[in-house]
Amino acid sequence: MKTYRFTLPLLLIAISFLHSLSAQMTGNFKCGQPGASNTTCRSLVGYSSKNATTYASIRTLFAVENLRSILEANNLPLSTAGTQRVNPNQVVRVPIPCTCSNGTGVSTDVPVHTVKQGDTLSAIASDLFGGLVSFQRISEMNKIPNPNEIVVGQRVWIPLPCSCNEVNGRDVVHYAHVVVPGSSLAAIAAQFGTDNTTLALLNGISGDAQLLAELPLDVPLRACSSSVRNDSLDASSMLLPNGSYSITANNCIRCSCEASNNWTLSCEASQLTPTTWPTCPPSRCQGAESLFIGNTTSTSCGPRSCAYAGYSNQTILTTLSPDPCSGSGGSRPPSGGSRPPSGNYASTFSPSFSFVVVLIQCALYLL
Ligand SMILES: *[C@@H]1O[C@H](CO)[C@@H](O)[C@H](O)[C@H]1NC(C)=O
Ligand SMILES: *[C@@H]1O[C@H](CO)[C@@H](O)[C@H](O)[C@H]1NC(C)=O
Ligand SMILES: *[C@@H]1O[C@H](CO)[C@@H](O)[C@H](O)[C@H]1NC(C)=O
Ligand SMILES: *[C@@H]1O[C@H](CO)[C@@H](O)[C@H](O)[C@H]1NC(C)=O
Ligand SMILES: *[C@@H]1O[C@H](CO)[C@@H](O)[C@H](O)[C@H]1NC(C)=O
Ligand SMILES: *[C@@H]1O[C@H](CO)[C@@H](O)[C@H](O)[C@H]1NC(C)=O
Ligand SMILES: *[C@@H]1O[C@H](CO)[C@@H](O)[C@H](O)[C@H]1NC(C)=O
Ligand SMILES: *[C@@H]1O[C@H](CO)[C@@H](O)[C@H](O)[C@H]1NC(C)=O
Ligand SMILES: *[C@@H]1O[C@H](CO)[C@@H](O)[C@H](O)[C@H]1NC(C)=O
Repeated sequence: MKTYRFTLPLLLIAISFLHSLSAQMTGNFKCGQPGASNTTCRSLVGYSSKNATTYASIRTLFAVENLRSILEANNLPLSTAGTQRVNPNQVVRVPIPCTCSNGTGVSTDVPVHTVKQGDTLSAIASDLFGGLVSFQRISEMNKIPNPNEIVVGQRVWIPLPCSCNEVNGRDVVHYAHVVVPGSSLAAIAAQFGTDNTTLALLNGISGDAQLLAELPLDVPLRACSSSVRNDSLDASSMLLPNGSYSITANNCIRCSCEASNNWTLSCEASQLTPTTWPTCPPSRCQGAESLFIGNTTSTSCGPRSCAYAGYSNQTILTTLSPDPCSGSGGSRPPSGGSRPPSGNYASTFSPSFSFVVVLIQCALYLL
């Protein structure tokens, strides 16, 4: 009879232990569904180098199409020179193209590193690319049979983790955050304006015990809502998180996202030289000729504003908020929302917590 008393606690210990092993962070981000067709989007990675570097070097390293994309993602002025110094351990947000394939997100074909004398896959992963990817993942995705055997001149694709999934029924921008030793889900959540439960579910872990340092954690950054139409040429690039901006519509429009502006994308004429158009079309609101994109007018019933709605190869589109005098607020219907949650999270207890409970139970049984 006495031995039976111990069987259950011991079994629970074993289960807790196995559960905590299986739930460790992997550094891979869930994206789409296994078997579903590929989807693409823009994603962000948080890069920091142990050595001082420059924005131009980071651009080259990650094969970002232009310096401006990096400046936009970091809310830096357009006048910032590529040669400007980036301090050791300073975190820079780098935009990357993302492909969801068979349930996992990876950067689309970039960056590619050409192996130099003295390189090892492990140094490429943890030093050069700041721990955003593991060397095992690089060798797996490049089908390198022996990670110790890479040759000078060999081109190696760095499969950075990313995702395009909605989170909690909302469009977000996914950000790969390299976990620093000693941090917690709650601290990371506070830093990026999310909560620890969302972070845990998204990353398939149950608590701080499974949070591994020096691996990337998938952090969903809330994006500003916008009036940009889904058929606009920039529809896929106007999902912006707090503290970033984007120059769009052939250089004619500048949009920015600030949490302080009620998480609403704010756009106006950029006053820059257009790229493909001879001049920028007027950003006057269709239906209210005295209003320009970004203007708000007050009417006797309340404010009315003119927002950027996208562009085509001929013109810039605008949208006028509903006339406040004509009743119903006219809020836009939320997009999506019917997506089933991915993964199966049966327990809300963290294994480390149940492990402690079991230990206490054991102690009590022993008495
Ligand atoms: C989906 O993406 C994977 C990996 O990037 C690629 O190998 C595959 O060809 C893609 N499939 C389609 C249908 O584009
Ligand atoms: C897709 O993922 C599933 C498991 O998630 C795996 O069994 C399958 O082999 C994968 N298919 C491809 C083509 O990679
Ligand atoms: C950082 O600098 C050291 C010394 O100059 C050099 O050996 C090392 O390769 C550099 N690391 C990276 C990632 O550039
Ligand atoms: C989130 O934080 C709360 C309060 O700090 C805590 O009770 C809960 O266990 C945490 N959840 C996870 C998944 O870490
Ligand atoms: C684009 O939006 C319109 C209405 O705003 C909707 O009817 C249409 O299905 C959307 N298309 C796509 C591809 O999402
Ligand atoms: C938004 O970003 C600003 C700095 O760009 C920061 O001070 C603020 O805390 C952020 N707000 C949220 C809710 O993330
Ligand atoms: C903030 O935006 C939401 C919709 O996104 C709207 O319902 C709410 O009225 C706005 N609040 C203010 C103060 O403008
Ligand atoms: C309306 O927008 C134009 C162009 O962005 C700007 O020059 C002007 O000052 C704005 N007017 C008001 C009243 O905000
Ligand atoms: C605009 O794009 C459409 C389709 O993409 C094309 O048929 C048309 O010729 C383009 N117009 C101009 C002026 O470039």
